[in-house]
Amino acid sequence: MKPEDVKKVAVVGTGIMGSGIVEVCAKAGCEVVTIEVDDQSMDRGRKRYERSLATAVERGKLEEGPRDEILGRITSTTDLDAGADADLVIEAVTENLEEKLRVFRRLDEITRDEVILATNTSSLPIVKLAAATKRPDRVVGMHFFNPPPIMKLLEIVRALTTSDETLAFAKGMGERLGKTTVLSKDRAGFIVNMLLIPYLNNAVRMYEEGFASREDIDTAIQLGLGHPMGPLTLLDFIGLDTAVYVSEVLFEEFRDPDYSAPPLLRRMVDAGWHGRKTGKGFYDYD
Ligand code: 3HC
Repeated sequence: MKPEDVKKVAVVGTGIMGSGIVEVCAKAGCEVVTIEVDDQSMDRGRKRYERSLATAVERGKLEEGPRDEILGRITSTTDLDAGADADLVIEAVTENLEEKLRVFRRLDEITRDEVILATNTSSLPIVKLAAATKRPDRVVGMHFFNPPPIMKLLEIVRALTTSDETLAFAKGMGERLGKTTVLSKDRAGFIVNMLLIPYLNNAVRMYEEGFASREDIDTAIQLGLGHPMGPLTLLDFIGLDTAVYVSEVLFEEFRDPDYSAPPLLRRMVDAGWHGRKTGKGFYDYD
């Protein structure tokens, strides 16, 4: 399979990342079937990409005609078997190994042998998903960044079992989707999160210790380093629950205290302050 031959992509899971990936694939001209666990999640996913495409139109990035064509290429279902005739599958379900294994086992049964099964996991060992299939050489990581329609990077992650052909396909497909690709081995955190997580956790420690205010920490990084967001704003954007989860995975892998989530971050998650998505994190959101 060559990237240019991909006509239909199945995207499993339409949370923040999955719905963004749906938008990216449909914008690149692919027919996309989105697969969710229930009608409610399916509707939430649809609203996300509809809202994002509406914003693209408002900001003059997209005309209404092409927007409607993009939407016309997307269909939604709660039936995983609708992925049977896909030319590529990108899995973006919650970061739960059992759930991902269930999805991969079924996809392995129903899709054509040559179809590549990609995962957007940011933390789980890709080789575990590969080993659950009869095509471990055709399983690869395609790790997008939030928000997928805007962030230009795609990390391609090679599991121990991934073949050269699969890797070349993932790279080519990333380029077809308008992304710049980088290659990482299958180690927790890949390139970006391995560098990002200690930085974010250290910003929380700095705030927790009263060393500087949240606004000053964020302003310092925005203006001093030219980042679009300071670390505490970025944590609210990523989701504090996600940040704790990825920290735990990195800590488990490397046993380096720099990766462990600081107590304040954990307590905020316990309080239900998960950042933007819950209306409260380091800052308040309406
Ligand atoms: N569709 C198309 N274009 C859009 C858009 C949309 N829905 N929304 C915004 N844009 C465009 C804007 O028009 C603007 O384009 P321009 O530069 O040509 O003018 C550009 O995107 C940026 O928009 P704004 O400056 O208006 O800023 P916003 O507030 O809309 O969005 C942001 C900003 C892109 C989120 C920016 O703040 C940012 O880059 N933040 C950092 C995000 C980041 O670090 N993400 C990675 C998180 S880590 C991760 O994902 C890994 C995981 O595993 C944890």
